[in-house]
Amino acid sequence: MGLLNDSIEFARETLKHYDAGHNWSHSERVLKLSRKIRELENNGDLLVIDLSAVLHDIGDTKFHAGEEEDGGDMACEFLLSHGLEDEKAQQVRYIINHISFKKHFEEQVGRSIEFQIVQDADRLDAMGAIGIARAFNYGGYKNRAMYDPDFPLQAYGDTESYKKSEAPTINHFYEKLFKLKAMMNTNTGRRMAEERHEYMVGFVEKFKQEWQGLI
Ligand code: ADP
Ligand code: NI
Repeated sequence: MGLLNDSIEFARETLKHYDAGHNWSHSERVLKLSRKIRELENNGDLLVIDLSAVLHDIGDTKFHAGEEEDGGDMACEFLLSHGLEDEKAQQVRYIINHISFKKHFEEQVGRSIEFQIVQDADRLDAMGAIGIARAFNYGGYKNRAMYDPDFPLQAYGDTESYKKSEAPTINHFYEKLFKLKAMMNTNTGRRMAEERHEYMVGFVEKFKQEWQGLI
């Protein structure tokens, strides 16, 4: 299909300078996971889900100097100029502008099934073996410590303080990754999150034992 392929090309190009955990391979996994969840939930508009998954990170402010809303606006503009009907383009814009974990501090309304599915897929890709790899890759990209037992865990109350964190990567497991299981939207997402969650918990346990020279 023309529009989807064009959107994939647009995303690939835009995500080129992102770190290995946020580049096109991440969005491609989110696309596959979204389709799988949609199939099992037997619900949701396929085109809106596909386009939202493909374009969801194009305006990520970790890699893109601009405003938080740029991603959804850029996607919407692109989709309209490629002939997508306004209603669907606005749906994609909303999803992209609200999908991020850092946005969960704000109240959210209008969470469509398409929104819930793509958000679950994005969160699943932050968990499990891939989630561990992405966290350490991002920590390395930011030159953060892997672990510092003296660095206290933070309870972020808003988007800004979460974004400013300089915490070691192990802290990110407690501050975000371990919370995701309870935040899944769909039954399918919740089920898929179980194994990935347990895998991360086991990993952090072993990491700490090895760090202390216990095993
Ligand atoms: P979202 O995709 O919901 O916007 P983020 O972009 O904050 O969430 O995080 C995406 C992924 O990037 C995380 O799941 C993690 O792998 C990595 N990441 C982000 N912030 C950190 C951090 N402070 N330490 C380690 N990894 C991080
Ligand atoms: Ni993402």
